[in-house]
Amino acid sequence: MSSEPAPILSARDRPDWSVTAPAILTPRGRGADDTAASMVRTLFDRPRWLEPCHLYDERGSLLFEEICELPEYYPTRTEAAILEREAGALMGLAPVECIVELGAGFSKKTIHLLKALSRARGRGTFAAVDVSATALMASRSMAEELFPELAFTGLEARFEDAITSITRDIPKLVVFLGSTIGNFTPTDMLHFFTHLCEHMGPDDYLLLGVDRIKDPKIIEPAYDDARGVTAAFVLNAFTNVTRATGAGFRPELIAYRSGYSPERTRVEMVGIATETHRVDFPRHSASFVWEKGEGILVETSRKFDPDDLQVQLRSFGLESLGHWTDPNRWFSLLLFRRSKDSHALESK
Ligand code: AVI
Repeated sequence: MSSEPAPILSARDRPDWSVTAPAILTPRGRGADDTAASMVRTLFDRPRWLEPCHLYDERGSLLFEEICELPEYYPTRTEAAILEREAGALMGLAPVECIVELGAGFSKKTIHLLKALSRARGRGTFAAVDVSATALMASRSMAEELFPELAFTGLEARFEDAITSITRDIPKLVVFLGSTIGNFTPTDMLHFFTHLCEHMGPDDYLLLGVDRIKDPKIIEPAYDDARGVTAAFVLNAFTNVTRATGAGFRPELIAYRSGYSPERTRVEMVGIATETHRVDFPRHSASFVWEKGEGILVETSRKFDPDDLQVQLRSFGLESLGHWTDPNRWFSLLLFRRSKDSHALESK
């Protein structure tokens, strides 16, 4: 691994980022106060909810890695098998030297793409974006060990900050795997694609991994596993909120509930109060009464029809280049390029 972080950030934005660990950068001025404010804001909405990024403190990141290995959680192994089979073909269609992975986690599945990049080019850049420092350090260790010929940069940031600051001068493949797009609200999804497409250069590609609509009998156990790892992962968000905001959540009074809504084609994961009690936020001089049986929506996981999604993304100027799936048709990988027309419009 090169010791100097690659110039993955635009020259204009580079001064706005600081190095927090070797090869890991974070935006200046984004701190604990922003995180706490974003948690408190949604907890006082009705119905109450949390942004999914708050699931990924150190314990949350480790629990999510454990989920990925569970027999019930089919998305990771299904997507990994498609990637392993198709990485060469995919990188052939997206001839870039730089891979940017959004929501990288430990980047285990990305190894297939990095191998194909390295085989085709012999060098290149890998930038991993994640809110979790734990995940980025794991991703960095993997890159150092397996791909010393690639320059690694970790961006400890929310997607929008990273997307804004990444240079448009290097052609890149933006990789968004694991169906993380399914954790966005419809409004977030709209903002995400608008923002991403505004910042994609003319020679950039997007690879999206999406979990498909299927029999709820397959989906539901994936989010309510026998060992209770998913329950621990989702409820850990309340521990993270307590630490970040000083709130008085009481883990012994919160139960996990999940279910698939066929109308909304999404899994809903909530923390439910097992008794009516008051939750105090002393640092914010606020509190609310959490009624017995009331749920706080911690995460949703939407499932997709890949053909509909391709049509939808066309309106953002994303032209479909490829679609790969598994024999059960449970998961899809979709490759896009920003259509030339949208750049022509932009430069007018
Ligand atoms: C990260 N994301 C795509 C996972 C999912 O399947 O929605 C998060 C997850 N939550 C519970 N299990 C997995």
